[in-house]
Amino acid sequence: MTSLSGVLYNHVLYRLLYTAQLSSNRCFAMNSTPQVSVLFVCLGNICRSPTAHGIFEALVRDAGLDGWIRVDSAGTGDWHIGKSPDKRAMAAALGRGLDIGHLIARQVRPSDFDQFDYILAMDRSNLSNLERMRPPSFAGHLGLFLPFAAYAGQPLETDEVPDPYYGEAGGFQHVYELVEQAARGLLAHISQHHPRSI
Ligand code: 4NP
Repeated sequence: MTSLSGVLYNHVLYRLLYTAQLSSNRCFAMNSTPQVSVLFVCLGNICRSPTAHGIFEALVRDAGLDGWIRVDSAGTGDWHIGKSPDKRAMAAALGRGLDIGHLIARQVRPSDFDQFDYILAMDRSNLSNLERMRPPSFAGHLGLFLPFAAYAGQPLETDEVPDPYYGEAGGFQHVYELVEQAARGLLAHISQHHPRSI
């Protein structure tokens, strides 16, 4: 006959093993699903950064890396919070078969520095605004976006995405082309520096 202390002993042992298994599963899950996160930033989050967001998200998806690389975008300004991308940015993207109409503008927040590995600015003005917000603890990469084009073998002549908001429609085509090249380079860079472990 099994003694009461024996039952208790088995119960405690079972709980210990079960807890150990749960925590080892948790460690495994954390190790198997680390993410690289990228935040694209411009002024209004309705022209350049949503274009970058949409293009990069599509490249990531096509490479089968969604779930591994997280993508978002934001503006340093607050004027367009809650709005869809500018119609001209949406038209330039749709002309190349990319729908960015689901994106909604938001403003950069301090917690973005805790949550993103790459915070990439479209121009130097955006970058200096971000540098003012940067907490000393931020260990990620804060910089301009376009220089990443070099990782796709196509360094660009400019390192800033020009603000197309007050310009003509052609400006949006130009933004799209610059951003697409840098997005390809960024994906090559991330694939090289953050290889997927499983
Ligand atoms: P974005 O373009 O920074 O690429 O989204 C702009 C959008 C709105 C304004 C300026 C730039 N604005 O002055 O409202």
